[in-house]
Amino acid sequence: MDKEALKELLNDMSLEEKVMQLVQIPGSEYDSDAEITGIERGQAKDRVKRLAGSTLGIWGSRRLRKIQEEYMKEHPHHIPLMFMLDVIHGHKTVLPCPLGQGATFDPDAVRKGAALQAMEAAADGVHATFSPMADLCRDARWGRIMESTGEDKLLNSFMAAAMVEGYQGGDLKDPAHIDACVKHFAAYGAAEGGRDYNNTELSEHTLREYYLRAYGEAIKKDPAMVMTSFNSINGIPATGSTFLMKKILREEFGFKGVLISDWGAVGELINHGYAKDQKDAALKGMTAGVDIDMCSGCYSGYLEELVKEGAVSHEMLDEAVLRVLNMKNDLGLFEDPFRGLDKESAPVITKEGRLLAREAVAGSLVLLENKEKVLPLKNEKNAFIGPFADTKRLQSSWAFSGEDDNTVSVWEAALEVYGAENIRTAAGCTMFDQDAVTARGIRHLDNWQEENERLLREALETAEWADTVVLCIGEDSTQSGEATSKVSLQLPAVQLKLINEIKKTGKRIVTLIFTGRPLELKEVRELSDALMICWLPGTEGGHGVLDVISGKTSPSGRLPVSFPYTVGQEPLHYDAYPTGRPKPEKGPFEYTSRYLDCENGALYPFGYGLSYTSFEYYDAKLSAEELSANEAITASVRVRNSGNTKGSVTVQLYIRDVTGSRVRPVRELAGFKKISMDPGAEETVSFEIKEEMLRFWTAEEKWESEAGKFLVWICDSSVGGKPLEFSLR
Ligand code: NOJ
Repeated sequence: MDKEALKELLNDMSLEEKVMQLVQIPGSEYDSDAEITGIERGQAKDRVKRLAGSTLGIWGSRRLRKIQEEYMKEHPHHIPLMFMLDVIHGHKTVLPCPLGQGATFDPDAVRKGAALQAMEAAADGVHATFSPMADLCRDARWGRIMESTGEDKLLNSFMAAAMVEGYQGGDLKDPAHIDACVKHFAAYGAAEGGRDYNNTELSEHTLREYYLRAYGEAIKKDPAMVMTSFNSINGIPATGSTFLMKKILREEFGFKGVLISDWGAVGELINHGYAKDQKDAALKGMTAGVDIDMCSGCYSGYLEELVKEGAVSHEMLDEAVLRVLNMKNDLGLFEDPFRGLDKESAPVITKEGRLLAREAVAGSLVLLENKEKVLPLKNEKNAFIGPFADTKRLQSSWAFSGEDDNTVSVWEAALEVYGAENIRTAAGCTMFDQDAVTARGIRHLDNWQEENERLLREALETAEWADTVVLCIGEDSTQSGEATSKVSLQLPAVQLKLINEIKKTGKRIVTLIFTGRPLELKEVRELSDALMICWLPGTEGGHGVLDVISGKTSPSGRLPVSFPYTVGQEPLHYDAYPTGRPKPEKGPFEYTSRYLDCENGALYPFGYGLSYTSFEYYDAKLSAEELSANEAITASVRVRNSGNTKGSVTVQLYIRDVTGSRVRPVRELAGFKKISMDPGAEETVSFEIKEEMLRFWTAEEKWESEAGKFLVWICDSSVGGKPLEFSLR
């Protein structure tokens, strides 16, 4: 439909129809099998169901076709209903959870993964996904860290932008693509104490420098939607904040698409103490610029009244409705309301999709320790022990359209590689401690004690038989994701007991950690000969893990987030501001900024990760000592694969602005390159440094660079390398 026709349509719509385009209701209102939480089926009145502009949480072309057919018949202007879904790290083929994708340091792979997700979801009738989550996250207590790509603004920016590109492709009318929704605007990841939905207190410069960056970069890729966040920022709930939504999102970022609230967030303005009732909440949501009210009922209940009374102007309403109509039009829904709904069966997982997922898993695994080169595994007696050894539950709580049945477990993949005669498996213990609280409630097992005694006996027998134990432990997928904040980052006690008992057998231990968040691994590090983070790897988890531990592929993932010694260090991030009393490298340490009982830095820092081969960095240099505007300096380093196997290395560039009108972080990631190298190969890796990369939110509240001295590291983690120096004129 052309723009004129769209405007004519808008002018022809009744006030009620217009308001309802801004209303989203749960899919359970249309289909009782919907995978969503929240309000019960049957709460929306008939009129809302007939006219609501969009719904969420349902998929499947036959199912959606039926709903769309009925809906279109009833709708006075035959405006199609839009179907949205959380396709977070896979629809049918489930990729590693977003934090694992961050660990790949490979935006191209992430873009391809998003395109695969879009293709599968589109073929299942889905029009839009609520992804990417561009929230910066520095606190492992917050369970949604699993849905982020980590703690770094640059890495997050690359990944969020790549996801938008992958989902949307070049042309949204292409039936293999879907709308992206950048969320949760803004600073949802900064929740105080890591407690989900909690307030955030951020100075404007920290907000702008760190928390807003990845949303901004993703928005440059023109996503169809942005979602508000649940939290308040400096006392104003994001969903009601005109500063965030009007000034920053619309004016500064130039966002032209649809702004949708998070689930119920307009109504939650009342709980925040920011709106007195639902009507007031609807007014505050509209005034802030929220176009679609996701499931709170405030717009459907009160927006019409507010327009009639003049509290919300017709212009304001029309602008919002037109944005929604445009979004539907961009997808070609007016020409084909049954887009993606012509298939008789669900999309199938393809060989190509599996391969892509398998490579993504292999690229996401982070090898933290490999004492005595115990990995890759030798072809001897290997025992796969632990609650993650023989489970298909390898995807996160945000992959509900993917089915566990399609997942390849570690054990299944191990059988393919080593054959049944050479390997054994045992669960070793339960996944949970007795009465562990998860997002799905309390896990209580009546015979927990006896069951664990039996499992341990079995595991120890299996370990006695083996040369090496591959211990597959970690945090269940119901313990990360939404509403899973924790004050402990320890593995379940029953799992720690298992590793301690196995250690007593004297066998080599290769520990694989499956997790959606950083955990405390000091004890596990001491007990393990090799230690690797496998995240929540998804459908091809087993294959990807086996590709790496068998030596078919060398591990190449890097930590996208700091792993602390102890939870007491959280929030923890490498790009901290300096202090007036920095802790010196060598003592005395008294009266310096430090913990008495712990290191300041991470146990495993951001950017860290080992390979089976070794890389040497030498001849690091800058092409000039001075930089001026419109010029660039080249920072380069020679890298050599000095080991015996092929491997990938992620060369990282960090910069520090030594003196500024505001304090600047001790280091900031300014670039990275992941390259694959044969043994003995050498190459020069270079980065351009330009003046614009040195800009920050100055004391004068402007994005500017300031003349002075800068330090540069070209190295292999956020704590590595020796600094070079240049100055900005
Ligand atoms: C609430 C979550 O915060 C958000 O990320 C998600 O997209 C919506 N629910 C819809 O399911």
